[in-house]
Amino acid sequence: MNFDELIDRRNTDCAKWDKMEAIYGVPADEGLAMWVADTDFRAPQVVLDKMHEMIAHGVFGYFDNSVSFNGAIQWWMQERHGWSVEPDWIFTTTGIVNAVGLCLDTFTQPGDGIVVFSPVYHAFGKVVRNAGRELIECEMVNDNGRYLLDFDAWDAQMTGKETMLILCSPHNPGGRVWTQAELQGVADFAKRHDLLLVSDEIHHDLVYPGFKHIPMPLADPSVIDRLVMLTAPSKTFNIAGLHTGNVIIQDPKLRARFRDRMLALSVAGNSMGQAALAAAYSPEGAAWVDAQMQYLEGNRKVFDAAIADLPGVTSMPLESTFLSWVDFSGTGMPTAEFTRRVEKEAKIAANHGASFGQGGESFLRFNIGTQRSRVEEACDRLRAAFSDLQ
Ligand SMILES: Cc1ncc(COP(=O)(O)O)c(C=O)c1O
Repeated sequence: MNFDELIDRRNTDCAKWDKMEAIYGVPADEGLAMWVADTDFRAPQVVLDKMHEMIAHGVFGYFDNSVSFNGAIQWWMQERHGWSVEPDWIFTTTGIVNAVGLCLDTFTQPGDGIVVFSPVYHAFGKVVRNAGRELIECEMVNDNGRYLLDFDAWDAQMTGKETMLILCSPHNPGGRVWTQAELQGVADFAKRHDLLLVSDEIHHDLVYPGFKHIPMPLADPSVIDRLVMLTAPSKTFNIAGLHTGNVIIQDPKLRARFRDRMLALSVAGNSMGQAALAAAYSPEGAAWVDAQMQYLEGNRKVFDAAIADLPGVTSMPLESTFLSWVDFSGTGMPTAEFTRRVEKEAKIAANHGASFGQGGESFLRFNIGTQRSRVEEACDRLRAAFSDLQ
């Protein structure tokens, strides 16, 4: 595993590099793609070997996804997260955004209020609104560059039409790993307002040293009768294009409702994605993830040091994820100006903060899940683009 190896993803129908010119106006040849949340790393060898084996075999017919895949998920959750999962609690979807859509479809009605703690991963709002539900943004408190949950304010905001809460744990884009007390607060809030709790824990493997992710059912077992857990190997192993997500539901009644909907819509996984998952959720995959976290820790330090050099610009200290949430409010520049400098001068494509909802307006999100030399290049370009501030 050589995370420094530069891999050119241009002209591979890759969203991050091949769409950045169309979306951000950042030229494909000299631009740095730091937006879409995948990494530029090759998947672990154990996954590549499995893919090669399947290609050599050459038959891609219908397959039985019931045994080895769910066993691998069970092993991973126990081994890496101390969470005991039974195989029959697990459903496979085409990804986690798909899983959120299925939860909306199964457990809510058009017009229902769907609560998120904003700013948060933008696809939640997209799916909620397109499903004809109302997005209820509960804005977090930005406490000196660290997001906190504000249940007292949010209690007052609830109207009674809310039926579901989508939690992002760990948090994208703020990088928080929620503590036991915070998760307890979330569970209590869900109970107080009678909300189904959908806990999107897709970033759970990407936690930096010194922090510990707590799966929601371990934080508060009493919330299990209203809990749907979402996890996936996609961020962890950079296999998002294989479209495989895990929905894990312990409560039998919720599970029965979800199963009926899955059958009604005939949602199922694909053989390559599920085989990649089973290969990745293994001791070899675990060793690779540990090495990747060490590497990302190095990237985080390099990037944060550069941002700290820019007067008025701050990055939230990442506890998890490879997504750095950078606040330009201290520069006094309007959003259009700091965005122009990043896109036109530094030639970096980074996500616009406003797309993550209320509270995101003065931010850009930079994906540092790339080779160190690219992170260093981005740092040099940002220093130059904001050099007049120094
Ligand atoms: C919190 C969160 N959920 C879901 C996804 C996407 O999941 P998928 O590709 O499985 O739909 C992302 C990707 O950035 C994410 O950050």
